[in-house]
Amino acid sequence: MTPTAWTLAAREVAPAGAAVVEERPEARRLAETVQGRVAVVTGGATGLGRATCMEFAQRGTAVAFNYLDLPGRDVAAQALLTETAIRALGVPVYCARCDVRRRQDVEQFVVAVRERLGGVHFLVNNAGVTHDGALWRLTPEAWQEVLDTNVTGAFNCIQGVAQPMRAQRFGKIVNVASHQAFRPGFGISNYAASKAALIGLTKSAAVDLGPSNINVNAVAPGFMKTELLTTLPREVLERAEHESVLGRVAEPEDIARVIVFLCSDAARHITGQVIVVDGGLTLA
Ligand SMILES: NC(=O)c1ccc[n+]([C@@H]2O[C@H](COP(=O)([O-])OP(=O)(O)OC[C@H]3O[C@@H](n4cnc5c(N)ncnc54)[C@H](O)[C@@H]3O)[C@@H](O)[C@H]2O)c1
Repeated sequence: MTPTAWTLAAREVAPAGAAVVEERPEARRLAETVQGRVAVVTGGATGLGRATCMEFAQRGTAVAFNYLDLPGRDVAAQALLTETAIRALGVPVYCARCDVRRRQDVEQFVVAVRERLGGVHFLVNNAGVTHDGALWRLTPEAWQEVLDTNVTGAFNCIQGVAQPMRAQRFGKIVNVASHQAFRPGFGISNYAASKAALIGLTKSAAVDLGPSNINVNAVAPGFMKTELLTTLPREVLERAEHESVLGRVAEPEDIARVIVFLCSDAARHITGQVIVVDGGLTLA
């Protein structure tokens, strides 16, 4: 059996025959371990992305986020509001328009983050889109757009931060999947496939990056009260509320806090996992 890194490290310092003592994190300080770090949140202007930026900022983490203008939405204005709210909490912030589908743009964004905020410790792949339609009517463009953003976009960002995170032997990556990866509703074959693929990417990235002390996990939210949800028929939302064991639809903060937990030292031994945060929706 291959010895774990900590036993190897301990052996290097402990004299032969001496008991190996593992260094244990102090419980009270675990919650503070995101303070002073730098988090990158994709699609951070709105919804869950914004809530995640705010959760980090409230704990003293510097925040970089990117966004893309979406048809019919005022994302650039929302980005300015998010940036202002983060700055008001007194932490450094950097925000830029950057399309996660474009590898070169992502590389430039990561360089800018490191220059302006001094590093990159956490990556939250939150940017995601839907383009629903019955499977037999789904256009190749609708399929591609969703796969390109939700999967290739996350891959581009993971590749973008992998080099600095590997060099510093530290990093936490959290991908935002969905309960729809396990229990899809009607007309979302592209979205369900993209989120299932994102879970596969989470597990394989955890394997590849684990030896460099980088944890990679996913959260799978149920329905959440964001603008994205307003595109769904009202009956879907009512059914979700009714079917959820806890009888409610999540606020974005309910998921954001779990994302921040996964970036803290309290979660240092969790990797390659999917945490379902759906109020028990998938139990029903
Ligand atoms: N709202 C829900 O019920 C729900 C449920 C499960 C999972 N999710 C997931 O949560 C995440 C956030 O969704 P939300 O509800 O906050 O929706 P949202 O539409 O408010 O947020 C998505 C953000 O992604 C950004 N974005 C889209 N394409 C991009 C690209 N190519 N490059 C950079 N940024 C891009 C947008 O600018 C937007 O700010 C998504 O991954 C979504 O699939 C949402």
